[in-house]
Amino acid sequence: MLDHTDRHCRYFFRQLSRHALLYTEMITSGALLHGDAPRHLDFDPAEHPLALQLGGSDPNELARCAQLAARWGYDEINLNVGCPSERVQRGAFGACLMAEPQLVADCVKAMRAASTLPVTVKHRIGIDATGAHIAAESYGFMRDFVGAVGCTTFIVHARKAILKGLSPKDNREIPPLKYDYVYRLKREFPDYTIVINGGISDWHAIEQHLPYVDGVMLGRAIYHDPYLLADADRRCYDSSAPTPSREQVVGAMVAYAEQAVARGTLLRNITRHMLGLFHHLPGARNWRRMLSDAQLLRANDPALLLRALEAVRTLPFEERGALALADG
Ligand SMILES: Cc1cc2nc3c(=O)[nH]c(=O)nc-3n(C[C@H](O)[C@H](O)[C@H](O)COP(=O)(O)O)c2cc1C
Repeated sequence: MLDHTDRHCRYFFRQLSRHALLYTEMITSGALLHGDAPRHLDFDPAEHPLALQLGGSDPNELARCAQLAARWGYDEINLNVGCPSERVQRGAFGACLMAEPQLVADCVKAMRAASTLPVTVKHRIGIDATGAHIAAESYGFMRDFVGAVGCTTFIVHARKAILKGLSPKDNREIPPLKYDYVYRLKREFPDYTIVINGGISDWHAIEQHLPYVDGVMLGRAIYHDPYLLADADRRCYDSSAPTPSREQVVGAMVAYAEQAVARGTLLRNITRHMLGLFHHLPGARNWRRMLSDAQLLRANDPALLLRALEAVRTLPFEERGALALADG
């Protein structure tokens, strides 16, 4: 997720689940080939299994990106055919590519030829290119797209994308969810790996989908309530390892932040992804407030995480903040 699942976020998520597949933000082929590739691609080995999501529509460029992905040690390359933003449409990629299955097939073929990594596609159930709700969103449109693309793993955001007149945010909320399209896709392509996405926000919902598809992708829910991930290994990967406690996760993140800060990272770029860790629990407000307090963050001291943890359990934020300021 753009501006969200950067390497710090992913390292944090990895403390909650050993096995869930994590995705980078979408990185455009242009940014990768003409920009600072290490900045976009570097990650901590602990983040595996990790998929690199690419945005682009030029087979040659995407092939070169696939080679970079392999060189950097990613586990999967995912092509974004679901982003509806106007900026992305101007670049002629994202969701508008659903109208060009042959071009997507050429891109996938080029990426597969350029590396041995699995290539997957994330797409919508359809697109509405007119804004007049005359939509290419019949089930058959999506089936033909999937049948033409030439890979065998698809992550389907179960909404159409409205390409004119709707912001990306509205495009994640307004078009109705049609989970039955995704279930039917799995029935018609039983050998393919079909992962469902869109509006899934708790374990009850995840378990309702799993009989019909091969996997579930969560975006916003995990970001806002990351501790949801802590159950993934036990429920989905037959792991008998103990579920990590929030305290253990914070401890691991302190160690990570110490190293990252020593390399020049600002603490707030790590803590900003952790604000939801105590979602719904008493003390959650103290946690969020301390970790987003500009004055407290200014010291760039990872021990702030431990002080915030203590504040969750004990003192009201106001007193904790006063103490911290007096200390420092
Ligand atoms: C802030 C934000 C950024 C996103 N960036 C991406 C992206 O880079 N690539 C992508 O495939 N989807 C992106 N998405 C869409 C999500 O991956 C997901 O398909 C969508 O939010 C629906 O799933 P959810 O209801 O579980 O969040 C983004 C969503 C949000 C909220």
